[in-house]
Amino acid sequence: MPEPKGPVELPFIGSILSLRENPPEFFARLAADYGNVARFSVFGREALLLSHPDLIQEVLIEQPKNFRKSRGLQLAKALLGDGLLTSEGDFHKRQRRLSSPAFARSRMAKYAEDMVRISERHVASYPAGVRVDANQLMMRLTLAIVNKTLFDADVSAEADTVADALEVILNNMDRILNPFTEILNVLPLPSTLRLREAQAKLDKIVYGIIADRRKNPGDRGDLLSIYMSASDDEATGAMTDKQIRDECMTLFIAGHETTANALAWALYLLAANGEWLKKARAELREVTGDRPVTADDYPKLKLLQNIFAETLRLYPPAWTISREALVDTQIKGYEVKAGTTVVMSQWVMHRHPAYWSNPAQFDPARFNPDRAHDRAKFTYFPFGGGSRQCIGDQFASIEGVLILAVFLQHFEPCLIVPGYTAEIHPMITLRPRGGMPLVLRGVSK
Ligand code: HEM
Repeated sequence: MPEPKGPVELPFIGSILSLRENPPEFFARLAADYGNVARFSVFGREALLLSHPDLIQEVLIEQPKNFRKSRGLQLAKALLGDGLLTSEGDFHKRQRRLSSPAFARSRMAKYAEDMVRISERHVASYPAGVRVDANQLMMRLTLAIVNKTLFDADVSAEADTVADALEVILNNMDRILNPFTEILNVLPLPSTLRLREAQAKLDKIVYGIIADRRKNPGDRGDLLSIYMSASDDEATGAMTDKQIRDECMTLFIAGHETTANALAWALYLLAANGEWLKKARAELREVTGDRPVTADDYPKLKLLQNIFAETLRLYPPAWTISREALVDTQIKGYEVKAGTTVVMSQWVMHRHPAYWSNPAQFDPARFNPDRAHDRAKFTYFPFGGGSRQCIGDQFASIEGVLILAVFLQHFEPCLIVPGYTAEIHPMITLRPRGGMPLVLRGVSK
C-alpha cells in the first residue's frame, strides 16, 4: 500500500504555523512537493490533502457514506443549527429534498427578475470617479438579493440590522477554524458577547417573520414560502419553526458572501485585463442594444458566463472542502484511518499545472463549449460535488452574470493604480485582503 509523504513537522502542533500563515499556498506547496496524496497533521489530528480528480471523485461521489463534514462545520452548528450546510445523513437528505423546489428552474426566472431590479437600484447609486470598496458594495447588493428572494420584502425595513449582525457573524466565522473555539464560546469575552447579540438579533427577526407568515400563509414567490408549505409524506409533515430558522440562517450565510467575493474578484480581473473588459462590453451591447439588462438576457450572455466561471477558477470563494473519515477505508489504494481529515482544495486543483495550461492566466475562453473536453471532473469544482453539492449553484451563476451585466452598463471597473495586485485573504471564503479597491469610470450606455 502506498505511504503518503508530507513535510517534517513540529511535535504536537504539526503544520499549524504554515497552515495559519497562508493556507492556500501551504496546500499548493504540499501538492507540488508530495503529489496526489500529501500527509500533514494539526494538533495531533491526521490529515491528507488529495490533489487528483479521481481521488476527489472517490470521496465526494463514490464513498460519501464513509465521510462526514469536517470538524469546523460541526462547530458552525452553534450558529446554523441543523441547516443544509451542517446537517448529516438522513436528516440532511430529507432537508435537501424539502429545499430543492425552492431552487427549481421554474423559480429562477422570478429570482432573476428580482436580481436585475435590485442590482439596477444599487448600481445606479454608486459614485463614479472615486475609489470604492467593490467587495463591500457587492456584499450589500448580494445581501439585498438574498433578503428579497428569501423573505420577499419582509426584512427591508430591518436590512441594516440584518447586514450589521451578519457582518459580526461573518467576521467571527474564522473562529470555527480555531481549535480553542469550544473554550472561547463559553468565556464571556467581548467578541463572544457581540456574536451572541448578533445571533439573537437575527433570530428575533427570522422568528418574527416566520410567525407572521404562519398567520398569513400563501405563496409569495420567495424561498420562505416554499419552506412554510414544505411537507414530507414519509415523515412528520411540515418543517418546524426551528428547522425553517436553521435553513434561513444557513442561506443568509451561505447565499451572499460567496457570490459577493466572486463578483469583487471578477471586477478586479476585468479591470486588470482590459481586452476582456472590452469584449464583455461588446457582447453586452450586442445582446441588449440600448435597453437595460433583463433577466431573459442571461442565456445569451455567453462571454459573461465564461468570465464568471473563469473567476471561480482563479479565485474560488470556497477554496477548500474537507471531510472526516467515519470508518477505516481506502481511497484508490491509499489507507485512510477513521478520524482522518481529507482535504480537497479548489485553490490547488483550479491552478494545478498538470490540468491547466498557463494556470495563472485569466482566460475566459477556457470555458468555451468546444474546450469542455479538456476538463476532467474535479479539476474544476467551485460548487463541490455529489450529494453535498451547492444547492445555490444555478442561483449564484445567474446572479453573478446578471450583476456583472448591470454593472458594466453603468461603469467600467479600473485599478486604483496601474499594475495594482489584489491579495487573497483566505477565511472560510476567499476574500480580497483589505477589501477590493477599484475606481468606477461611468460609461454612456
Ligand atoms: C459563487 C457562489 C457560491 C459558491 C462558490 C458556493 C460554493 C459551495 C460549495 C463548495 C458547497 C459545498 C461544500 C461542501 O461540500 O463541503 C456549497 C454548499 C452549499 N451552498 Fe453554496 N456556493 C455559492 C453560492 C451559494 C448560494 C447563492 C446559495 C443559496 C442561495 C448557497 C447555498 C449553499 C447551501 C445551502 C449549501 C449546502 C448544501 C448541502 O450540503 O446540501 N450557495 N456551496
